[in-house]
Amino acid sequence: MTKTITGFSKLSKSEKIDWLVSTYFTDSKSAKTLLKQYWNANEKLQQLHDEFIENTITNYYLPLGVAPNFLINNKLYTIPMAIEESSVVAAASKAAKFWYDRGGFKAEVISTQKIGQVHFMYHGDVAKLNQFFTTLKPKLIEDSKSITKNMEKRGGGILDIELKNKTQDIEGYYQLHATFETLDAMGANFINSCLEQFAKTLKNQAQCFDLFSAEEKDIEIIMSILSNYVPDCLVRAKVSCKVEELTENPNISAQEFAEKFVQAVRIAEVEPFRAVTHNKGIMNGIDAVVLATGNDFRAVEAGVHAYASRHGKYSSLTHAKIEDGIFTFWIEIPLALGTVGGLTKLHPLVRLALELLGEPSAKELMQIVAVAGLAQNFAALRSLTTTGIQEGHMKMHLMNILNQFEATSEEKVKLVEYFKTNTVTHSAVVEEIEKLRH
Ligand code: MEV
Repeated sequence: MTKTITGFSKLSKSEKIDWLVSTYFTDSKSAKTLLKQYWNANEKLQQLHDEFIENTITNYYLPLGVAPNFLINNKLYTIPMAIEESSVVAAASKAAKFWYDRGGFKAEVISTQKIGQVHFMYHGDVAKLNQFFTTLKPKLIEDSKSITKNMEKRGGGILDIELKNKTQDIEGYYQLHATFETLDAMGANFINSCLEQFAKTLKNQAQCFDLFSAEEKDIEIIMSILSNYVPDCLVRAKVSCKVEELTENPNISAQEFAEKFVQAVRIAEVEPFRAVTHNKGIMNGIDAVVLATGNDFRAVEAGVHAYASRHGKYSSLTHAKIEDGIFTFWIEIPLALGTVGGLTKLHPLVRLALELLGEPSAKELMQIVAVAGLAQNFAALRSLTTTGIQEGHMKMHLMNILNQFEATSEEKVKLVEYFKTNTVTHSAVVEEIEKLRH
């Protein structure tokens, strides 16, 4: 059994690696070489990455791809996507081109409110607490002025603070439930700083509120934190066209395709097992853009899936209908994104991604990300309801299998050509490699 180590974070990067490779790896020399191979030769750039987190030992690469031809609200975008899954960028590009020829995507931001809460315990007279809150509220806002003044200058800040009685769920449990407008910032630091100030003011003011008994004055703050559930930071994106414009596939009529597609969406609306996979496909597109633009994909994931369950049952994030011969397909999702702050100025590739998108505002980025999710879902459902998913997926996965077998460039050219007309399966590829090599 390996021993624990104290003071690991204080070691230099090289010392950390030395401890790691000698403790965990039989071939410590190769492990060390591999870790160093991924260091950037540009020392300043490497240091920047080292300092993003604690205990950095190397970099972990993901491909950054682009999907061109996205027409969104009549503006053309090439969308950056950071993702490892073979078929995602190809699928997005295909869907972009398909809808470019049919008028593109339309997107609109519905709301941009974010939420944060101070969770606290109070065991006393509720009427007195309500009375206290009316005097407290202006003080909460006043005491946070030093935090909010810059945001206010730009038109954002605290929108409202409510007192919420949650004693039906937990005895003595109340909240300060605050709403914020954080403009182009994702706003986590801003919101959390405001909330921590609210908590201090709440605690202090309670001590001086004359109507409270000694026990009532002793409000216990449990925690102050933003919520990643943002149902009022909502964006909608849609595509639509005449049903007869819908298919390029000679094996299925446009009407049949449209009906099958709508049915597939309905299944995801009512059947959670399908909805999870359906939404996972949407998140393939969303996460890839969120990551490429330096946003917090864990926050987005958590918020989006909570939204997908808002009616008490996990359901599809997209919807589709055919009405008067018009096919419409749309998505509605909560997205708390930022185009300033966080990694946006720090990570050179994030800066590049944002420049590629034309330096969007947070609202514009919400629209782009929602479209990426919708496009991804369209591509997945189109394959699923026609050819099946494996045809396209395995075509894209072919390169991974070839790399796994260390195929030479010459072998790759031959095998890619061969599999243009043959079905890709793992065993078929292995068989063809072996044939070539013997
Ligand atoms: C694979 O990453 C995503 C899909 O499974 C999505 C779907 O089934 O809709 C293809």
